[in-house]
Amino acid sequence: MNKKPIILGIETSCDETAASIVTETEQGIPIVLSNIISSQVDVHKKFGGVVPELAARSHIEKIDWIVQKAIDDSKIQIEEIDAVASTAGPGLVVCLSVGLSFGKSFASIMNIPFISVNHLEGHALSPRLNSKLDYPYLLLLISGGHSQYLSVQEIGNYRRLGTTIDDALGEAFDKTAKLLGVEFPGGPQIEIMADKGDPNKFALPKPIFNKGGCNLSFAGLKTSILKISKNIKEEKDKFDIAASFQKTIEDILYKKTKIAFNEFEKVNRTQKKVFVIAGGVAANKKIRSMLVKLCKEHKYKDIFAPVNFCGDNAAMIALVGLEKFKMKQFNNLDFPAKPRWQLDNEAAYLKGAGVKF
Ligand code: KG4
Ligand code: ZN
Repeated sequence: MNKKPIILGIETSCDETAASIVTETEQGIPIVLSNIISSQVDVHKKFGGVVPELAARSHIEKIDWIVQKAIDDSKIQIEEIDAVASTAGPGLVVCLSVGLSFGKSFASIMNIPFISVNHLEGHALSPRLNSKLDYPYLLLLISGGHSQYLSVQEIGNYRRLGTTIDDALGEAFDKTAKLLGVEFPGGPQIEIMADKGDPNKFALPKPIFNKGGCNLSFAGLKTSILKISKNIKEEKDKFDIAASFQKTIEDILYKKTKIAFNEFEKVNRTQKKVFVIAGGVAANKKIRSMLVKLCKEHKYKDIFAPVNFCGDNAAMIALVGLEKFKMKQFNNLDFPAKPRWQLDNEAAYLKGAGVKF
């Protein structure tokens, strides 16, 4: 019986400091031996968003004990670790550098291979941490930092079908929340407020709704809500704004997901249609039930990434490390942090002013 690889994963791309130990069974099914996540919500709350410098400082303060705890909780000995995998991008460069440098030093001291991991690849493979999932599948990643439709062909082979050209969806929820006086991260609170309001009270813009394939855009919503929020007179107005925003997002995702289904089917001539939804915004119950209904209509099997692997975590990074370790895909210790690292090399960079469809 061969010894199965044991991988240490490290994640510091944004505001979660995370470490995890992952291995696999004889049959190649991943086993998460530990999964430690320390969130910095309290650090950034009063600023209404993530402050890179503060995030990096917090990573530096915590990284040693987070990794130590991941090793302790896994019940393995440090010498048993076969490789270390760190997120190298995309993300905030000052934050990425912390986990990347720590991982490189760890690999160097322990004399084991170092593997750099694309954070999006972690999200793309994360549902495999607890479900048996065959390739290919369609992934919708909706988090505070990313909003993408990806066709996951196999490990290392991804086709981006659509992406946000400005704000991520979680960011749009958080910005709306901030305008309504709700603390960061306000996404979950918007969902609750929306239940008490009239979803048809305000007609909000749906940017690139009728063009741009399954690419997404949310920045226009914030501008519109900024204007409306200046006339808030009573609590009820806030609920109506939240409800109108929630409804607009559902409409956008309904239409764009239908387009993504089409594009996925053009890329893959497969009978098995699987749609995986990951990222913090996937916790939104109304978005969930709308997507479940859509999947039924289009005969897709829906899979929601489990809550503990949905947001940023290091188990997903260790899992990519495990797959790369088995393929002997190691990286040199001079591998740089890549704040803008696309999963699909062929995909155009679609952010910022000047993007036209
Ligand atoms: O994936 P995630 O946990 O972490 C990062 O992106 O780093 O996503 C966090 C995002 C935040 O923007 C948060 O407001 C949003 O997910 N979120 C939600 C809900 N729960 C979390 N947005 C809408 N409805 C929710 N129930
Ligand atoms: Zn993420």
